[in-house]
Amino acid sequence: MRTQIAIVGAGPAGMCLALLLHAHDVDVVVLERRDRAYVEGRVRAGVLEQGSVELLARLGVDARLKREGLVHGGIKLSQGGETFHVDLTALTGRSVTVYGQQQVMADLFDAAEARGLPIEWNAAEVALHDIEGEHPSVSWTRDGTAAALDCDFIIGCDGFHGVSRASIPASVLRTYERVYPFGWLGILADVPPADHELIYAGHDHGFALASMRSPTRSRYYIQCALDEDIAAWPDDRFWDELCLRLGPEAGERVVRGPAFEKSIAPLRSFVGEPMRHGRLLLAGDAAHIVPPTGAKGMNLALSDVAMLAEALLHRYGTGSMTGIDGYSARALARIWKAERFSWWFTALTHRFPETDGFSRRIQMAELDYLKGSRAAQAMLAENYVGLPME
Ligand code: APR
Ligand code: PHB
Repeated sequence: MRTQIAIVGAGPAGMCLALLLHAHDVDVVVLERRDRAYVEGRVRAGVLEQGSVELLARLGVDARLKREGLVHGGIKLSQGGETFHVDLTALTGRSVTVYGQQQVMADLFDAAEARGLPIEWNAAEVALHDIEGEHPSVSWTRDGTAAALDCDFIIGCDGFHGVSRASIPASVLRTYERVYPFGWLGILADVPPADHELIYAGHDHGFALASMRSPTRSRYYIQCALDEDIAAWPDDRFWDELCLRLGPEAGERVVRGPAFEKSIAPLRSFVGEPMRHGRLLLAGDAAHIVPPTGAKGMNLALSDVAMLAEALLHRYGTGSMTGIDGYSARALARIWKAERFSWWFTALTHRFPETDGFSRRIQMAELDYLKGSRAAQAMLAENYVGLPME
């Protein structure tokens, strides 16, 4: 078998890139380790930058997003129970849209199916070959049967634990990492959200986040220990702790109900450089991870592939490798700013084991400064809505 572009991984990065290239008559094949139901079922992030919404519109996969996406012109920050509003639209002229990654994936898979885009589901033992040469290929097995695909370029969109980044020689790959000493315990419940906006709350007990998926479905998180036993968090205990951390004003508006999803996610900052080795190019979580505090994970995956599609289309349109040669540096410049923002917002709002009286007061002073300073809020807002793609 032969194709122009082999994409490993059918997450947001892999599927958006596949649809972008397919729309310009570039041949693509997507290889995915799991099946559609599994990928679509994973509960992940839920905030789209305006640039991400525009990209999905450009792909023609935004019909449901337009109907059901919740456009948010602001967010709230809370400190010790006192809440203030950051008006994203007044500060930046832009907004974000709350729409779950699960819905994004369903829309992308529906479009891929309708457009006849080939996806090889349940591809096991994916291996990359000859990425340093002119004729790379990918091999895999399904139900014990071997298959292979020759191509011009391999795109690694296979997430943090995928095979692609691991195929770059250790002598070439540089990695930068922070592992945070806590996790997020998250729940989904079919109850109306406490507020029409997201609330990011700092509290002596730790961080809490009030988010949503729809007017009738809420998504809440609280910071927890990494080794926290989920069984020790029956619904009542979760709701009590959430309300305490959100403070009396927002806490009172929390509507309680049975949690139908409850899980703990670790927090990590990670960047692997460069994002290209020979004919292998990386995008999304395969190359970088951010803690979820800035809501940047899915958005970064989408901005990577927007840049990558431009580079690949330039190559197929003109034969020039200039865009591909520049891709890693161009993408990393934006990624590192999102890494900085996500790290900063996490440090500002979470309780660290080493948080002593001094650092807690510094956090409180910074939140108080944000509350009173339009300049400080503008920094937060322009990062939150998404920096431009340069
Ligand atoms: N072979 C084939 N597919 C693989 C392999 C492999 N060896 N390893 C992983 N995959 C698949 C996974 O099953 C998954 O469907 O690659 C896909 C990677 O998708 P994501 O992890 O969603 O990564 P990405 O597309 O970069 O999107 C990043 O999604 O997971 C969130 O928080 C993350 O919001 C961020 C965004
Ligand atoms: C979510 O709704 O899942 C969500 C929202 C904002 C974040 C992280 C997660 O910063």
